[in-house]
Amino acid sequence: MPLTDKFGRAITDLRISITDRCNYKCVYCRTGNEGALYGDLPFDDYLRMARVLVGMGVMKIRLTGGEPLLRKGVVEFVRELAKLEPQGLKPRSTSDLGGAAQAAPFPDNVPTRSTNDAVGMGHPRGVDEGVRHSIPSDKDLGNLDIALTTNGHLLADVAQALNDAGLTRVTVSMDAVDPERFARITRVPNGFDQVLAGIRAAKKAGLGPVKVNCVLLRGFNEDQIIPFGMFAREEGVIVRFIEFMPLEEDRMWSQASVVTLDEIVARMAEYRPLIEIPRGQSETARRYRFDDGEGEIGIIAPVSHPFCGHCSRIRITSDGKIRTCLFSVWDHDLFAQMRRGATDEELAEYIRGVVERKEERHHIGEPDFVPASRTMVHIGG
Ligand code: GTP
Ligand code: 5AD
Repeated sequence: MPLTDKFGRAITDLRISITDRCNYKCVYCRTGNEGALYGDLPFDDYLRMARVLVGMGVMKIRLTGGEPLLRKGVVEFVRELAKLEPQGLKPRSTSDLGGAAQAAPFPDNVPTRSTNDAVGMGHPRGVDEGVRHSIPSDKDLGNLDIALTTNGHLLADVAQALNDAGLTRVTVSMDAVDPERFARITRVPNGFDQVLAGIRAAKKAGLGPVKVNCVLLRGFNEDQIIPFGMFAREEGVIVRFIEFMPLEEDRMWSQASVVTLDEIVARMAEYRPLIEIPRGQSETARRYRFDDGEGEIGIIAPVSHPFCGHCSRIRITSDGKIRTCLFSVWDHDLFAQMRRGATDEELAEYIRGVVERKEERHHIGEPDFVPASRTMVHIGG
């Protein structure tokens, strides 16, 4: 049985935060006064959790933080993760997971080339060929998709090693293409050039298509929309704008501070029109290309266009707790189960019970909204 919640959503996407430390203090995320609040675990513990979950149907693992590249040993960790075999694509013995592993394919989760060809939408020019999670190449079939979300500050020096270890792709968070604005947002001087070098190194190392995430805040950086459109085309990266969610330490969110999908599309049209292109069902981003086919833009619109109905994600925090939603008001202590000596079957059973209770949707902007029990930097995005 694949891992499924009570609404029938298959859980195929795992995010592991490997530290809640961060070397940036982005104004919309952190107060600037708080440091790390939670501990982290030895990589072997995350590896065991990942192995059990891959045995239960997870096909994609994203490493997050805090800032994941602050942790020494991340390259070796990726190398170990890359040895895991997802169950949706290849039959596998169940013996090492005591029956938790599944040999049956999950056809809905294995997008094929023909799905994309059928609608006549190849990848837009200007972006590296083939978004791997939606158009797997023959080489990718059977491999776990292992991605990393980073602020990019330390990326340039490790990009090649990460690729060689088996990382599939990176997403870099970057909220301005103007270096001074970038410094004001991150509260770190001279970071922009380093992040740009990180993006370029990732492309060169084969970690493409590189995605660049930009959280938009009204009055702060919405004037960066068009410059980011140009940046996507010039650098050959997928720029994804994210609607600001109430997950910050400062509790400054308001509906008015959100720059919405409709506004982003309208603003970009002053430069060049965007045309929507097909996307995978559980993808967070709506995908667009420019009218001339050059460059790809994504818009992640959890506030104006929630996508909870197709959510395929669970998260493990740096201290080993499972979160079933970004907006969960509690988490579930998987590491405590391990510490008390649970077998892999018992862990799998525990995970099934937790996933069974996954929230149906978030309640951003509604009168009954209750803030999540952790803010973004302590969850991982
Ligand atoms: P790929 O599809 O693998 O490229 O990853 P992704 O689109 O999930 O990318 P990423 O991890 O960069 O997530 C992008 C952003 O989407 C996150 O930083 C969050 O802001 C938002 N996001 C991701 N998952 C969720 C979710 O479950 N709920 C909500 N509301 N927002 C989410
Ligand atoms: N709303 C939306 N996205 C956020 N991120 C951090 N805080 C928020 C928020 N409140 C983004 C980061 C990074 C990813 C992990 O989540 O910019 O791209």
